[in-house]
Amino acid sequence: MSNPSLLILPGDGIGPEVMAEVRKIIGWFDARRGLKFDVSEDLVGGAAYDVHGTPLTDETMAKAQEADAVLLGAVGGPKYDSLDFSVKPERGLLRLRKEMDLYANLRPAQCFDALADFSSLKKDIVAGLDIMIVRELTSGIYFGEPRGIIKEGNERVGINTQRYTESEIARVARSAFELARKRGNKVCSMEKANVMESGILWRDVVQEVHDAEYPDVELSHMYADAGAMQLVRAPKQFDVIVTDNLFGDLLSDAAAMLTGSLGMLPSASLGAPMANGRPKALYEPVHGSAPDIAGQGKANPCACILSFAMALRYSFDQGEEATRLERAVEMVLADGVRTADLMQAGDTAPASTSDMGDAVIAA
Ligand code: NAI
Ligand code: MG
Repeated sequence: MSNPSLLILPGDGIGPEVMAEVRKIIGWFDARRGLKFDVSEDLVGGAAYDVHGTPLTDETMAKAQEADAVLLGAVGGPKYDSLDFSVKPERGLLRLRKEMDLYANLRPAQCFDALADFSSLKKDIVAGLDIMIVRELTSGIYFGEPRGIIKEGNERVGINTQRYTESEIARVARSAFELARKRGNKVCSMEKANVMESGILWRDVVQEVHDAEYPDVELSHMYADAGAMQLVRAPKQFDVIVTDNLFGDLLSDAAAMLTGSLGMLPSASLGAPMANGRPKALYEPVHGSAPDIAGQGKANPCACILSFAMALRYSFDQGEEATRLERAVEMVLADGVRTADLMQAGDTAPASTSDMGDAVIAA
């Protein structure tokens, strides 16, 4: 049998810098853990535009469709700001997400003890936190019709429509239940079934999918506003939270900041299972191309490294190896290794991007 395939798209700015550290780590897993991947690398974003005049070629798109997982750095930068909308770097990423139909966006909020001081919440509320927000990404109010600004008599009216089909709800619910089985086996579904019909349908369908296919997973339901309160009051009560596009946008950004730095935050976007049972998958750090620090060896590679850990767990069924990698990051932080974004008063000289990668490998 051939090795699982991994398509790497470093992109722009700090993308290639943080991805170089992930390449070292992939090499370590190959040499030391016998984990082999068929790795190929390609261009996306401004890097692709510079060579091909488009932020994503059809050939790269086809490779992404066939890959067992795609790992992306970041796209964009001031150099491309004046480009036509149709060839902007971001369009490359949007095309990947759309054509791969990545409907489940996974945003973990995980607190490393050594960084608990970075949280805006009290240390004991966030220490040891490890939750996952699953946001529906391809439907809901950002896509529903009718939409627009119309004229009614003498005034303008802004319209957006929250619309979810049963199958759209069921498939993201399945993603959440599958994830829960690989984690704490608990799902909390959030909507506003008290004031929205789409919320009533959401609640019913999530419950039906649960009862028919995932009765072993513990399921609860919460109104999204109450969920927002609980998220900042006692976030450790949650394991997996599944919610729609709009509520997920807000809740995942809020949850991310429970744990501090942008340089630490990974993400995944998953789609339907492929013939081999693996979901279509794109893994990427939450941060962008950080043009203000690009090319200086200052970027924190942890968000990208932790995105690869998510790939190990959710695409390649290597949960133990994923935990090994996450534990290494935790140990390095506990040892006081800090890139510039993690520095606090009293810290000595910052570690460079490659110092951080090397330290993770040593750990
Ligand atoms: P950004 O995430 O690139 O940077 C925000 C701030 O956080 C900057 O001060 C940056 O230096 C810092 N930062 C980000 N990642 C870091 C890391 N790994 N280590 C240390 N510090 C880090 O967001 P910004 O500045 O709004 O956007 C810059 C460019 O990136 C734009 O062209 C934007 O369109 C693009 N972008 C791309 C994304 C993607 O590829 N998914 C997501 C967000 C923005
Ligand atoms: Mg947002």
